[in-house]
Amino acid sequence: MKVLIVGGGGREHAIATKCSESKHVDKLYAAPGNAGIAKVAECVDISVMDADRLVAFAKEKEIDLTIIGPDDPLVAGVADAFKDAGLRVFGPAKNAAIIEGSKAFSKDLMKKYNIPSAAYEVFDNADSALSYLEDAKMPIVLKADGLALGKGVLICNNLEEAKAGVKTLMLDKQFGAAGDKIVIEEFMTGREVSVLCFCDGTHIKPMTSAQDHKRAKDGDKGLNTGGMGTFSPSPFYTDEIDKFCREKIYQPTMDAMKAEGRAFTGILFCGLMLTEDGPKVLEYNARFGDPEAQVVLPRMKNDIIDVMEACIDGKLDEVDLQFEDNAAVCVILASDGYPEHYDKGYVINGLDTFDDKDGYYVFHAGTKMTDKGIVTNGGRVLGVTAKGEDLYKARANAYEATKWIDFENKYMRNDIGKAIDEQ
Ligand code: AMP
Ligand code: GLY
Repeated sequence: MKVLIVGGGGREHAIATKCSESKHVDKLYAAPGNAGIAKVAECVDISVMDADRLVAFAKEKEIDLTIIGPDDPLVAGVADAFKDAGLRVFGPAKNAAIIEGSKAFSKDLMKKYNIPSAAYEVFDNADSALSYLEDAKMPIVLKADGLALGKGVLICNNLEEAKAGVKTLMLDKQFGAAGDKIVIEEFMTGREVSVLCFCDGTHIKPMTSAQDHKRAKDGDKGLNTGGMGTFSPSPFYTDEIDKFCREKIYQPTMDAMKAEGRAFTGILFCGLMLTEDGPKVLEYNARFGDPEAQVVLPRMKNDIIDVMEACIDGKLDEVDLQFEDNAAVCVILASDGYPEHYDKGYVINGLDTFDDKDGYYVFHAGTKMTDKGIVTNGGRVLGVTAKGEDLYKARANAYEATKWIDFENKYMRNDIGKAIDEQ
C-alpha cells in the first residue's frame, strides 16, 4: 500500500521508520518530510496546514493511508478534509483534537467526568484573573488556552510573578489568540510520565511509558524547550499505577469524548503527574509526543500499519499491542543557544555511522539537504536513540552514539535518563 506521512520533524521520522518496516507498505511519501525522512520516503514540498493540496496529492497518488503527525493540522481539521474526500486518515477529527487545542475544554471535560486533574478556574478577561489571584495559593500555574508550541504554561512562585504572567498571556498576547482565555491551575508536585495511547473512538490501548526532559540545561535548569531527550519505560510508572490510569483516566477519557459526540481516533497522549494523591492528568495531546515517539516506537513489536488500520476501523480491541522487554533513550542534539538564538547551516558529519548499527537510530528534526551535504536547520537538530537491555545500558549506548555525530554548535544535555538513578 501507499502511505503519506504529514509532518517533518523527529516524531515523523520515527513514524516513517516504523512504517518503512511494515510488511504492508510499498511506497512512502512525506509532506514536507526532512533530510532524514528522505532516506525512507519520497518527500513532497507541501505544508502540513495546506489541506487542499495534501488531499489533492493523496488523490493523485492514490494514497491508501495518510498519517498526520503534528498538532497544528489536527487542531485545524486537516484529518476532516481527508475524511470528507473519502480518504483513509489516521488522526483525530477537529472536534476531538480540541482536547489538545483548548486547555479550558480539556479541564472542563475532566471535571465533568471525574478524571483526576488539578483544581482550576477559566478566565477570559484579565481583570477577573487578576482579582482571583489576590487570594490564591502560591505557587500557581497559568496556561494559555490555545496552542503555544508547548510554551504557554507559566509556573508562578508568587503573586507578583502571577500578575506578570496574566499580563504576558492576556494583555501582551505573547502567544497571540492562544491567550484570549487562560486556565489558572493548582500547582502539583510529583514525577511526570508520558503515556501515548492508540484509540479507535471506543477502545484505548496505552503504549509503554516514557519521560521527557523539557528544560534546556542539565538538572532541569534553563528555559522550556520542545523536549531535550526522553527515556522509556519510566521505572516510576508501576503496574499498580498503570492499572489505576487505565480504570480512572484512559478509558474514562475515551468514554467522555464519545459521550460528548467527539469520539477520539488516533493517538491520545496523556501527560501525567504522579502526585502523593495518585496520578493526575497535566495535559492531553492529540498526537504522538516529540521526542517520546523516538523512544516508544523503536520498542514496539507490532506492525504500526496493522494498529493504525485497526484504530480507523474501530477494531483496536482485536490488537495485541506489544513492546520489547528492554529500554530506549533518546538524546536530542541541538544548536547551542536553543531555544533562544542560534546559528544554523553547519554541515553534519557522521550520520552514516548509524546505517549498519542495530538498535541505534538518528532521527532528523531540524536538518536540510544542500550541495554541501546535510546541514543543521533548526534548534533541535537530531534525536539520537539507542536501545539497551535496561535503562542504564540504553543510556550508555545513546551517549556513546552522540559521539558519532559532529557539527559546529552541537549542544546536548548530559543527564537524559539520569532520574533512573533515584529509583
Ligand atoms: P503542559 O503543557 O500542560 O503539560 O505543561 C507543561 C509543563 O508545565 C508540564 O510538563 C509540567 O512540568 C508543568 N505543569 C503543568 N501543569 C502543572 C501543574 N498543575 N502543576 C505543576 N506543574 C505543572
Ligand atoms: N514532548 C512533549 C510533547 O510532544 O508535547
